[in-house]
Amino acid sequence: LADQLRASFDAAVAAEERVEPRDWMPDEYRASLVRQMAQHAHSEIIGMQPEANWITRAPSLRRKAILMAKVQDEAGHGLYLYSAAETLGTSRDELLDKLHAGKQKYSSIFNYPTLTWADVGAIGWLVDGAAITNQVPICRCSYGPYARAMVRICKEESFHQRQGYELLLALSRGTEAQHAMAQDAVDRWWWPSLMMFGPPDDESAHSAQSMAWRIKRHSNDELRQRFVDIAVPQAESLGLTLPDPDIKWNEERGHHDFGAIDWAEFWDVLKGNGPCNEQRINQRRTAHEEGAWVRDAAAAYAEKHTSTGRE
Ligand code: 3HC
Repeated sequence: LADQLRASFDAAVAAEERVEPRDWMPDEYRASLVRQMAQHAHSEIIGMQPEANWITRAPSLRRKAILMAKVQDEAGHGLYLYSAAETLGTSRDELLDKLHAGKQKYSSIFNYPTLTWADVGAIGWLVDGAAITNQVPICRCSYGPYARAMVRICKEESFHQRQGYELLLALSRGTEAQHAMAQDAVDRWWWPSLMMFGPPDDESAHSAQSMAWRIKRHSNDELRQRFVDIAVPQAESLGLTLPDPDIKWNEERGHHDFGAIDWAEFWDVLKGNGPCNEQRINQRRTAHEEGAWVRDAAAAYAEKHTSTGRE
């Protein structure tokens, strides 16, 4: 029977059908989805920290309102993704425990500091831009709840990317000091943004299987290249330069060549040695502890009202 189940699962995936929560699926498929969706959700909520750092210091009410809306969106993205992951039989509590215990990852990009206001623009333009390039294909992922969560997340990400681009454009066209601040932020966020797409294909542990299961639609290097090709003309219209002298259009390839990524830095940040790893995870643990009373109150309320049957 197991062989029949596996054969029909493989046929369904090969036929581009959606796998839904109640369908039979190989344990490894389930485990890899929990791994990726959990890390995706963790990235969203940890990603709130670098930007929240600037909410109280935004230069205008308009910028403050935009940034608050964006950070709120990230919390919502985390919620969708934890809920989608729960359809695989895990719980948000279990996933958060693994995050707090260092047993699950979040995107390396959030282990870098936001040193100036321009970083908010660089994150919107580059980090959310990279996230869109990586996430649009996941809208076609074989697992239904994950693919459907991505549709709304990608729509909101495009607002995140546009507000970042517009913020950088204002600075780039501002005073000399503002232009320099924007350029400094791009210099610091460019390479770590390329690392968001994961290690090179030949060092990617999951890509082959993830692509066979149609979870991953394009390889890490393919999406990274796609992002570079999008970002180069945008940098030109921003009047900012990307910190890579090797970027050059390659007519033959139909893509931009670009310089070597410092993979030692990437693996070092994944090992926990990035500039802000400690700070991010400590702040996350504290937020979780300080938020316990809210969870307890919500649970008590739910308990009281479901037992009385009142809404
Ligand atoms: N940061 C942290 N860990 C990373 C990473 C990164 N930038 N890139 C790869 N890794 C990890 C992988 O998780 C895997 O470790 P694991 O076995 O412990 O999970 C290992 O490095 C090897 O990488 P693989 O390429 O084999 O792993 P994947 O096939 O999972 O590919 C991925 C990595 C492309 C990030 C994929 O997991 C993915 O597409 N995830 C969903 C998208 C996502 O998580 N994006 C986070 C960006 S931030 C964000 O979206 C918030 C937005 O608001 C900006």
